[in-house]
Amino acid sequence: MAWNRKHLLTLEELSLEEIDQIHKTAAAFKKILGRSVKKVPALRGKTIVNLFLEPSTRTRMAFDMAAKRLSADVISFDAATSSTTKGETLRDTAQNIQALNADMIVIRHAAAGSPLYLSRILDIPVINAGDGAHEHPTQGLLDTFTMKEHLGGLNGRKVVILGDILFSRVARSNIHALTKMGAAVTLVGPSTLVPQWFTALGVTVSHDLKSALADAEVVMLLRIQHERQASSHFPSLGEYTSMFGLNQARAAWLNPKAIIMHPGPINRGVEIDSELADGGRSVILEQVTNGIAVRMAVLYLCSGGRLEQAIAGAE
Ligand code: CP
Repeated sequence: MAWNRKHLLTLEELSLEEIDQIHKTAAAFKKILGRSVKKVPALRGKTIVNLFLEPSTRTRMAFDMAAKRLSADVISFDAATSSTTKGETLRDTAQNIQALNADMIVIRHAAAGSPLYLSRILDIPVINAGDGAHEHPTQGLLDTFTMKEHLGGLNGRKVVILGDILFSRVARSNIHALTKMGAAVTLVGPSTLVPQWFTALGVTVSHDLKSALADAEVVMLLRIQHERQASSHFPSLGEYTSMFGLNQARAAWLNPKAIIMHPGPINRGVEIDSELADGGRSVILEQVTNGIAVRMAVLYLCSGGRLEQAIAGAE
């Protein structure tokens, strides 16, 4: 199947075959990243602009590295010193970036739907690097890629996502990818942050941490997203941690082979204790590393690259 999308806006709109194609392309690029020369000429002569209007460490740096590994030129937009501080709109900013002959825009924005909006007004590919509480598609792709590396196929595998689901774009993208891949997803947390209506997405909702963890093969922790909450959804952080924080005692409820994931940034001692985040079952830093190959795959495919060529280049 040929990849024929210009933009990557959501995982909700991708088919299982398209997700598989990104994963296979990422696997080919991961082989290249293991070489002494970690670079291919696939996007030589192209310019990619990272338009991040919300803070980021992992996503921005991984997109930056991915573009450089593909030999593209990269410009990282600095919101704090840009003319957005003088009132320039997102539309004008993006149209000026296109007028400067950028070949692709990677956007992170606090407003859900802003990547879709840009895709409608620009001629160049738009990649969503996180839009409000809506989606974070490359995070969902790198998370499922990492799960597959540990578990093989995800059909029938039991994945628990624990924490602030309501305000999480990571949760939404993972839910869309995991359910398409056949995983059994259980969302866990306080009812204010994990409302029952999420079951409409084909997942189970639970507020009972012990029973949810008992048969999980993957547990993914999410931080409390204070920046998106207009009011508090629980009495205090201490009470959240006492009810839903993952500590050594609760990790004993898990299958010994279960892996622990977190998209970052971690709030140590809140949603997860340090000894678990840094322990043998944690694959948190593997997720970060896989983020480069997955984003290389997305930039490459949305620029017109072909899976077969990526595989041939890795051999
Ligand atoms: N996981 C993630 O999106 O991290 P950053 O906010 O640091 O990019």
